[in-house]
Amino acid sequence: MSTIRLGLAGTGRIGSSHAETLTTLPGVDSVIVADADAQRARATADKLDIEFAPDIDALLAADLTGLIITTATDSHPELITAAVDRGIPVFCEKPIAADILGTLAVVDRVASSPVPVQIGFQRRFDAGYRAARAAVASGDLGWVHTLRATTLDPAPPPAEYIPRSGGIFRDCGVHDFDIIRWVTGREVTEVYATGANRGEQFFADSGDVDTAAVVLRLDDGALATVSLGRYNGAGYDVRLEVLGSQGNAIVGLDDRAPLHSVEPGYPASRLPAYPGFMDRFHPAYVEELAAFLEVAAGTRPSPCTPAEALEAFYIAEACEQSRRESRPVRISEVRH
Ligand SMILES: NC(=O)c1ccc[n+]([C@@H]2O[C@H](COP(=O)([O-])OP(=O)(O)OC[C@H]3O[C@@H](n4cnc5c(N)ncnc54)[C@H](O)[C@@H]3O)[C@@H](O)[C@H]2O)c1
Repeated sequence: MSTIRLGLAGTGRIGSSHAETLTTLPGVDSVIVADADAQRARATADKLDIEFAPDIDALLAADLTGLIITTATDSHPELITAAVDRGIPVFCEKPIAADILGTLAVVDRVASSPVPVQIGFQRRFDAGYRAARAAVASGDLGWVHTLRATTLDPAPPPAEYIPRSGGIFRDCGVHDFDIIRWVTGREVTEVYATGANRGEQFFADSGDVDTAAVVLRLDDGALATVSLGRYNGAGYDVRLEVLGSQGNAIVGLDDRAPLHSVEPGYPASRLPAYPGFMDRFHPAYVEELAAFLEVAAGTRPSPCTPAEALEAFYIAEACEQSRRESRPVRISEVRH
């Protein structure tokens, strides 16, 4: 059997977590990490007792079975292309790029290559979202008229993360846009988005917002709302409500959902809220990286291709335009 040797670029918040997950996956023989900040890569390598490469060139030359890209968003296109050019299968965290042109360049490059690329939309591997998709597909919900999606962080990411993040729609809402498409099997045709800044100044300094509300129209007439925020003091709140003519499917409504009923007599005892995405989605991250091993081995197709990630990105792009221009924006206006 051939040796499985995985490289990981970017040992920040999600990268150090993914590196640890990789070391636990059955069949993985070795993991090697690199970061623009070599000290950071070395610290992760020391902690996990794995190898580190002094720079990205050395990482790419390390005879890899696959590359996991968890660097800052604006560096993804260059790294994906560099790996694909060397014939190395890629798992890259969402989004593909910070803008449409960067995303399109990657989609075109990957389309003309046999090397597989998987984009990291981990909600596709979460048990709740999978059950919601199955419920829609089975017809048990009747026809879906409304979806309500929520992604509320308990506290903002570090200030230095925001300028390179692409903004709240491309960085955060893009998860909801992807999963709404995936759960319903429908396309978004039009968006209206608005936002507000009531938190720290660094959001406004980057032209970003810390709170946003979005209305989406789907191609079958269903309507979806998406609520995004960086200051949800009650805890990490990620849910999706799918409401149909015959029933509903609710993702994320469990004893850890940070929802505090003020109805008299309603039981107050609940478990503590998830502190953030690492804990809430840990099982999904493990599953998506295990899936990538199969993708890299050529035994399954990519479960989230760059072309699919582009569709979610178009929705994010339309939201950004809608917010800036205070008007509904059709997806056809931003599609290239
Ligand atoms: N799927 C998810 O739930 C999820 C969650 C968090 C972050 N992300 C995505 O993961 C990516 C990283 O996010 P993060 O929160 O870990 O950021 P981070 O800022 O904590 O870490 C990014 C790391 O990348 C390194 N880096 C930046 N440019 C580089 C380059 N050109 N070459 C090598 N290293 C480079 C930085 O030094 C840093 O260590 C982002 O694209 C983000 O959108 C996804």
